Amino acid sequence: MRNLIALSICLWLGGAAMAQTNPPPIGDASAPWRNVSQSPDARARDLLPRLTLQEKISLLHADGTFSTPGLPRFNIPKLWMSDGPQGVREEIQPTGWNPAGRNDDFATALPAGIGLAASFDPDLAREFGQVIGEEARARGKHIMLCPGLNIMRTPLNGRNSEYFGEDPYLASRMAVGFINGVQSQGVAACAKHFALNNQETNRDSVNVKIDERTMREIYLPAFKAAVTEARVWTIMTGYNRVNGQYCSENDFLLNRVLKSEWNFQGLVMSDWGGVHSTVEAAKNGSDLEMGSNVTGSHDKDFFAGTLLDAVNAGTVPISRIDDMVLRNLRVMASVGLLNSPPRRAQGELLSEEHLDTARRLASSACVLLKNSNNALPINPERVKTIAVIGQNADTRFAHDGNSAAIKTRNEITPLQAIRRHIFNDMNVTYAQGYAAGTGGGARRGPGGGATQSAPATNSAQLIDEAVDIARNADVAIVVAGLYRAQDQEGADRPSMNLPPGQAELIAAVAKANPKTVVVLTGGSPSVVEPWISDAAALLMYWYGGTEGGTALANVLFGDWNPSGHLPCTWPKKLADSPAHNSGETGQFPGTGARGRGQLSPETGPQEDYSEGLLVGYRWFDEKKIEPQFPFGFGLSYTTFAFSNLNLSPSNASASSPNTALVTVNLTVTNSGTLNGGESVQIYIAQNNTAVPRPPKELKALRKVTLQPGERRALSIPLPASAFTHYDTASDAWIAEPGDYTILVGNSSRNLPLKATYRLDNPLSFKEGS
Ligand code: BGC
Repeated sequence: MRNLIALSICLWLGGAAMAQTNPPPIGDASAPWRNVSQSPDARARDLLPRLTLQEKISLLHADGTFSTPGLPRFNIPKLWMSDGPQGVREEIQPTGWNPAGRNDDFATALPAGIGLAASFDPDLAREFGQVIGEEARARGKHIMLCPGLNIMRTPLNGRNSEYFGEDPYLASRMAVGFINGVQSQGVAACAKHFALNNQETNRDSVNVKIDERTMREIYLPAFKAAVTEARVWTIMTGYNRVNGQYCSENDFLLNRVLKSEWNFQGLVMSDWGGVHSTVEAAKNGSDLEMGSNVTGSHDKDFFAGTLLDAVNAGTVPISRIDDMVLRNLRVMASVGLLNSPPRRAQGELLSEEHLDTARRLASSACVLLKNSNNALPINPERVKTIAVIGQNADTRFAHDGNSAAIKTRNEITPLQAIRRHIFNDMNVTYAQGYAAGTGGGARRGPGGGATQSAPATNSAQLIDEAVDIARNADVAIVVAGLYRAQDQEGADRPSMNLPPGQAELIAAVAKANPKTVVVLTGGSPSVVEPWISDAAALLMYWYGGTEGGTALANVLFGDWNPSGHLPCTWPKKLADSPAHNSGETGQFPGTGARGRGQLSPETGPQEDYSEGLLVGYRWFDEKKIEPQFPFGFGLSYTTFAFSNLNLSPSNASASSPNTALVTVNLTVTNSGTLNGGESVQIYIAQNNTAVPRPPKELKALRKVTLQPGERRALSIPLPASAFTHYDTASDAWIAEPGDYTILVGNSSRNLPLKATYRLDNPLSFKEGS
């Protein structure tokens, strides 16, 4: 068998390969590469010179949809990867895109990434990652293709649900927790999609035109935290281009920022089918080509035979090949593939503990946006009949969502959970309300613009039936919002409106029953007119995963006090949103038609990020636009008060960006009558600078849980980096001396405490220092 493999490698590599008849010895049992007490780097460095050139090249491209071949001569098995951000994806055919059709590939579906971000709780992100890591081990996976770290630039991005919202600080905290959780299980995380992959329209070729400062302050920090704080083992490049070069061959992003400034030692893989060249991609920083020629022969991959030719021709130096291989070997060592036998602890799938974590996470994700006259929680003393309305109440979402889909054994829908939750004399009625569009499984390939079926038009009859049951109920719960057919990888949302018919339905139900509670699904905000003033309550549920329904019912009935906060600004209308508002042409979704293959910087679709730094609340603050709901906003069934703000400046000289410059001391009190969680948010504003800066920026957060009446004194340090902005003239993070306002509260528009910190001396740090 081994001979056969060797022969086939020789055949595709042609004459050059035949020359190497005596491969270097693999080393005996005491060889350092086998020694588990050595570092992954030392093991990789010992193994590298024992490989033939052919073996080296074989590690640099896939041998199946989600695998690389290992090193058969060394008894090192294949490396297996899996999507994705909500859990371990179902098994896909080894050389295709269809499901493998197995019955042992169920997994826990956790809530969508945007819901995790809504928890505003980095500790939960770690728990999230840990579940993924344990389930990945149980499913034999070595690399999990998550988390997704692209910033929400527009409410229309089809993949917003997979990411952590609009703010770089929040996304960074989530990234670090998530990655630490996954990698604590001996499984590699993969931070994706590096970088500026903020939309699905023309995702494979759009050229993002962006200034360096914006890139570094808004779009790169979550990746930087993944690399420099969480030490993520792998990175996936985006499909798109940035300032003229594809991400997979972007010298600035990969060689300069990632590998040189951030000192990334792991491996850079392409998104599936995202490599377009051999020499540029290899020289400019890609280390592994994935997803090319999935249904054909990988011999045709850019990093297969043509890479060998390039080495022989001297256009790619062997030192670069060695670096690429080392990076792959380090990851292989880190995930246990170099151990003999290459066994890891078993891992667990769908354990009670995982389901419990999934439930807590889904409850923590819910954001209460309106609650007039304490419409929620539902009071069983006063409510006997509950009308549940809306097809989304009776829909399982986890199995859709393209690469974020999970095959769940038993996803609890909101309707099921509400029925389970009620007491003996309560009664639940149900009406479909609207007909959701179907489909959504469509994918593949890097193109974007995958077919998504148009939602069916709603019939007046469905609305009449819903109004009828609402009128006869004590409470009406309308579960509406997006569904995966129009909110997933492959295409962007057509507009910020709710799917056809839903707004009319909600308006009619809210008129018929003043106790109407609206629950919205989706990965991003939707227009809430004309019904928001008539609805008694509004709850954002996102996509809750396996245990989402139960979590939602717990919130509705008060077994869980909601504590989620919006990880994105909720605009009143799309035109208020920065990527749709600057009046410039070339903003979302850009100009020009989709291109293929190698493109010159000026050809193919172009997109101008002309709103610059003013993404999300930064824009709404600067332009003084009233959002529907601000970034960071979220209600609770209890209330919180903030007091006693004072600052303790430290005497330390700010020798590094991590030095704490000042500690923010404050007290937070649960001033209501129920236990509850609150997210204390600290923003910094500096308005009198020579350089324009956003009006304020989130720089710290702390989640606390308090009993009624309980007070908690908090001391939260602010590092020097919190005060800096990126200065392209000096290539450094700098802060001008002067007064900085420290703002404390529980949303970007509710910051009752304020204090001034005076920075006496300028700060300047080189990137990576
Ligand atoms: C997606 C990635 C995913 C990969 C493998 C690509 O189309 O953009 O996020 O990890 O496919 O499924």
